[in-house]
Formats: sequence, structure tokens, C-alpha cells
Amino acid sequence: MASTFETVGVVGLGTMGAGIAEVFARAGIAVVGVETDPGALERGRGHLEGSTGRALSRGRLTEAERAEILGRVAFTTSLEDLSDCDLVIEAIPEVMDFKRALFTDLDRVCKPSAVLATNTSSLSVTAIAATTTRPGRVVGMHFFNPAPVMRLVEVVRTVSTEDGLAEEVAGLARRLGKTPVTVADRAGFVVNRLLLPYLNHAAALLEQGLSTRDDIDTAMRLGAGLPMGPFALLDLIGLDTSYEICEALFRESRERRHAPAPVLREFVTAGLLGRKSGRGFHGEEPPANPSSEEKPSASTVAVVGGTAANGTGAADGAAEAFAERLSAAGFKTTAVEDADLVVAVSRTPVIEQAVRLPHPARLVGLNLVGDQVAEVASTVLTSPGAAQVARGLLRILGRTAVSCRDRAGFVVGALLHPHLNDAVRMYESGYASMEDIDTAMRLGCGYPAGPFEMLDRLGLETVRDGLRALYAEYRDPSFAPAPLLDQLVTAGVRSIRDLSS
Ligand SMILES: NC(=O)c1ccc[n+]([C@@H]2O[C@H](COP(=O)([O-])OP(=O)(O)OC[C@H]3O[C@@H](n4cnc5c(N)ncnc54)[C@H](O)[C@@H]3O)[C@@H](O)[C@H]2O)c1
Repeated sequence: MASTFETVGVVGLGTMGAGIAEVFARAGIAVVGVETDPGALERGRGHLEGSTGRALSRGRLTEAERAEILGRVAFTTSLEDLSDCDLVIEAIPEVMDFKRALFTDLDRVCKPSAVLATNTSSLSVTAIAATTTRPGRVVGMHFFNPAPVMRLVEVVRTVSTEDGLAEEVAGLARRLGKTPVTVADRAGFVVNRLLLPYLNHAAALLEQGLSTRDDIDTAMRLGAGLPMGPFALLDLIGLDTSYEICEALFRESRERRHAPAPVLREFVTAGLLGRKSGRGFHGEEPPANPSSEEKPSASTVAVVGGTAANGTGAADGAAEAFAERLSAAGFKTTAVEDADLVVAVSRTPVIEQAVRLPHPARLVGLNLVGDQVAEVASTVLTSPGAAQVARGLLRILGRTAVSCRDRAGFVVGALLHPHLNDAVRMYESGYASMEDIDTAMRLGCGYPAGPFEMLDRLGLETVRDGLRALYAEYRDPSFAPAPLLDQLVTAGVRSIRDLSS
């Protein structure tokens, strides 16, 4: 039976629920908003008034439209008021026991034809549906934060969902002006299943001392072109929520990559949850000592290239181009023996080149990423002075320097390549199409390009080789290139998206 969805209930009017209620009301649909107690209900009403008030002041709504939207939402603390709703969306905290208890109640209160939906980010929709007498009428409807702005809705069908219901719910999402992506019930769905392992990996690398919080954020924003750095994003999502999502992923996959980084547990236990608590990785800390403008004092610089693997140390194309830019900027380049600073434009580990030099303390590794970022790797032998000089020199060349240890992939490769590999593995598993994965990451995370578009831009071979180097360094099975990626490189295929056309 086709559903009409004329009246919709939203249970929990917190961050997400209030936004979801606004989305339905804006589409002309009557909403019944439910909270646990009068205080929470007033806060929920406040969220909705605040959000529509901001839209009014930015000229995106007229006073009359705002009044109409607010007039479509009825506020209540009684679940019984949901009895006439065609669809009820749950947006209460991410705790399975709370959700199961609520769905048992919703099943009792709501009419038999009503669809019950959960906005869960990672919990099993199947397990939630199983608490009701109507598992066929239960789906996931996963909105993104802030719901009125983000265009993606993940529609989740379970093995019990009635035929056609997911399509009806996807149609409703379109009526709300959203873009639906329909998937089966796996922890994290598309977006969080790809995003959280990458964020968790950033936290693990911070713990391992690869680089600093700010340099990792800068590398991913300016170097990889993502809208936010991983630590700024973890703070926005909430470290508690991030931890729970990683836990849910790990429970399903048992993959080390999904096990929450210990630093997340430590922050959550300390009550440092991110923006919502005022402090997480960022916030409420003494301002960083503004790094005194490092003026390079090296009078002579040598540039060497070649991969660490071939160990030639001979100048190659990238190294020659960099040496030319240095000369154009007025730096004197010289032979390695005479140089105050040696810049190895090569892959990590650069220590293999350093040990062949007369003065290994003077060598840093360099990786130019895009037009803005330069990653500077210090080996165990690099002197702090040499690293500082290198950073100052790069600043003069107009690059933002990101400092890191001498590990495979520097920062950007170490984080981005496994993230893209995860997307290939997700596609290979048959869970979602490349188009859906690209759409989900663009519309759900604000990525300028989806993972498959990024893979094609970076070059499949570059990413495959980056993964091989990471695997050789860390021996983590999740860094091994997805078989499909390896095969495409072997076959000489240039665009992975050719497969889907
Ligand atoms: N925050 C995000 O970025 C985000 C994004 C997508 C999905 N989600 C998911 O949305 C859900 C809600 O997350 P949130 O960030 O809005 O949480 P939140 O803590 O901001 O809001 C939850 C609200 O539910 C209310 N509540 C708790 N138990 C209730 C009950 N039994 N009946 C009615 N109301 C109840 C609370 O009073 C609170 O207002 C979670 O499942 C979360 O994983 C969150």
C-alpha cells in the first residue's frame, strides 16, 4: 500500500530532531514533535525557533513563511499524540537500549500502517525493527547535521523491510528537497562507514606522534582539499558519538582500523566531547605560541630526488623543478657535501638517503601537495634547526609547511590513501555503487569530490603505490590495496569510474 506521509512525528528534538522537524515543516507536512519532559520540549522549540530565526535574518525565509513553518509543528511530551502519524522518525541518543524501548512503545501507539524510522548513525536498524510487531514497516532515515542544510538522506532497508517501502521513503526524501541513497543495513551505512575510520586513523596517528593536531588539520584541508580537518570534524560530530560509531563498526567488522583510538576514549571519559562541551581536540586552551617567523638562515641548499627505494639520491624531475624554484626565489643551491640544508624530494622513508650523507642532520624529506601545502619530514637524525630552516624556506615559496615524522605517506597520503581504499573495498563488496558512494560523501560530508573522483584525479597507480608503501611500513591489512585497485593498475585502466559506465 503506497504511503502518503501527510503527518509525521519526530521523537527527540535535540540537534538532529529539531532540524528534521524543520525540514518536514518547510515541505508543508504537519509535524508532531515529542520530547521526554517539558524542559526538553522547550529546548526543542527553542532550537526550531532559533534555526528559522537565523534563516529569517539571512533573508532565506519571510516572516510569514517562518510563522507557517512553526505553525505546522505541534509540540508534546506524550507519545500517544503520534497515533495518527503516517511516519514517525526517532532521533533520541545513540544508545540501543533507549531505541529498542522507544520502538516497542511506538509500535503500540502508532497505527498499523505507520512507517517507523530511525535516524541512527550506526546501530543496527534490523535489531531496532525486531522489537516491533511490524519489522516490515521499519527503515532507517539518516539525515545529516545540520538537517535543513545537508542534502543527503541515507535510506536503510533491512532484510525484513517490505518490498517498495524504501523506494517510497526515498521518494519522500526527494519531496523534502533531499537526495536519497538507499542501502542495506551495515554499521555506519555509507558515510559513517567511510568517514569514521579515516577520522579514527587521524587520532591514532596523532597519538603515534606523526604530526600535530593543527598540522594534520591543515594538511587535510589545504593539501587534500577537504572542507575541514579531521580534528575539527571530530569536535563537530562529538567525540562521544564518534567513539560509539567506531565501536559499532568494530563490533561488526573486528577490523583494527575501526577500533576507537585510545585518545578518543580518554577525551570522552574526561568529558571533553568537542563543540557541544566547549572543548575536544580544539577549544578553550591557551592560545598557541605564534611560531616566531622563522627566517631561513641556511645560505646554501641542496636538493636531491629519487625514490628511497632506488636510493640514487640523484636529482629527478620533481627535485629539479623544486631546485629551480629555490634559485628563482634567490636561494643558492649547491652540492650535497657543501649544503647547510639538504631537501630530499622523495618518498619516505628519507632516512635511507640521510644515512648516505656526510651530514645526515641537515636532511629533511619534502612532499609538495597540491598548490598550497608542503610536507616536511624530519628523520631521527634531522636537527631541529634544519627542519625549522626548511619550514621558513617553504613559507617564502608561498607554501604552508606541515611537519611530520619520517613515515610512509607523510600526512596526506597516510590518511587519504586508506580512506580511498576503503571506498574501493565498499564498492567491491557490492554494498553501494560508485555513484552512490561519491554522492553520499559529497552531499553528506561536503567533500568537493567523491572518493572515486578523487582516485581518478590522483591516479590509480599513485594511490596503489602509496598503499603498498603504507602496508610495508605498518603491516596493517586494511592498508593493502583493494584487489580491484591493484588489478586496474595492472590492466592499465586509468579511470576507475569507467567500470560503472
Ligand atoms: N549529531 C549528529 O551530527 C548526528 C547526525 C546524524 C544522525 N545522528 C543521530 O541522531 C540521533 C540523535 O542525535 P542528536 O545528536 O540529535 O542527539 P541529542 O542529544 O542532541 O538529542 C537527543 C534528544 O532526544 C531526547 N530524548 C532522549 N530520550 C528520549 C525519549 N525516550 N523520548 C523523547 N525524546 C528523548 C533528548 O531530550 C534530546 O533532546 C542519534 O541516533 C545520532 O546518532 C546524529
